[in-house]
Amino acid sequence: MKQYETRIMPAMQADALSEAVRLLQAGELVGFPTETVYGLGANATDKTAVLRIFEAKGRPADNPLIVHIADFCDLLPLVQGVDPRAEQLASRFWPGPLTMIFRRSSRIPSVVSAGLDTVAVRFPKHEAAQALILAAGCPIAAPSANRSGKPSPTTAEHVYEDMKGRIPLILDGGPCSVGVESTVLDLTGEKPTVLRPGGVTVEMIKEILPDVRIDNAVLAPLARDAQARSPGMKYKHYAPAAHVTVVRGSPEFLAERYDSQIALGKKAAILCGNAAPYGDRLVFSIGKSSEEMATMLFRTLRELDEEGVEVAFAEATETDGMGMAFMNRLLRAAGFDVLEETGDKKTE
Ligand code: TXA
Ligand code: MG
Repeated sequence: MKQYETRIMPAMQADALSEAVRLLQAGELVGFPTETVYGLGANATDKTAVLRIFEAKGRPADNPLIVHIADFCDLLPLVQGVDPRAEQLASRFWPGPLTMIFRRSSRIPSVVSAGLDTVAVRFPKHEAAQALILAAGCPIAAPSANRSGKPSPTTAEHVYEDMKGRIPLILDGGPCSVGVESTVLDLTGEKPTVLRPGGVTVEMIKEILPDVRIDNAVLAPLARDAQARSPGMKYKHYAPAAHVTVVRGSPEFLAERYDSQIALGKKAAILCGNAAPYGDRLVFSIGKSSEEMATMLFRTLRELDEEGVEVAFAEATETDGMGMAFMNRLLRAAGFDVLEETGDKKTE
């Protein structure tokens, strides 16, 4: 793989933007901010550039990418028609954290979609992302800018940790406001289906599409013989080096598990909304609302590693609103290791 001196430049600075555009037009990769997480961008119409994304991330070739646009009109050449549902959703939620899946046109090389005849498209809200796409003058294919399997990056420093030497430039737009990736909505099947929950919640989509359903793999592991509708869902995800366990139960129950790990000589930590019940244990307080928790999750998973935490216990939350996106990521970070306290009977 080609080696680079990786530069970080302020995203909205004119010379940073022109350098990013020069690189994209030369078929190189650029890390850039969006409101959800940082993306690793390439010119979506340049097959060789797109292949570089898979190489830099170590991404399996059968996991398709999202194509980013900065004007609704730019959707039309990429897809084989836009149905009225997509138009309605776009007028309500674009620009924003919603990705929609359409039938792919020949403008998008098949490697972008990992050989599928569909394509995922998103119009991000972040002003630096929009400025970059408009200045580049082409749609930009971009997965999250982490190494495959790692938590998605929510700061330019996270991108640097994962991509140092692998890409020439990262545009720094500060911390991402949403903090988890976009909602992925498939409109190509019989019923509109959420394949990945995100910043546009299922409740919000329901107001426009009352028949929207949620894919089985959103909050449960994919059955061994099942075909993933979103290939990304079958891979281990968002995993820190620490072993994470999701706990459904009281703070006392969680604290007991923590204490038993400490007794074994392990470096343990707790991820929770409210730190008060946990006394002087090592606590990462990640916010009170599910929005805050979603924003904090990925950066906290990276902090666990920086602190050398070996085992972490995370409080489960409700799965309404942003809680669904939060729990979808947390369960994957935990490899679906869930510990439940049921009445006074404790199951493992
Ligand atoms: O917020 C986001 O969506 C970020 C920022 C950079 O825009 N991007 C992102 O991309 O999260 P990535 O590649 O990490 O996740 C894309 C997800 C994967 O789970 C992939 O399988 C799914 O979208 N996907 C992409 N194209 C698809 C398609 N044609 N059919 C089904 N799923 C698709
Ligand atoms: Mg990703």
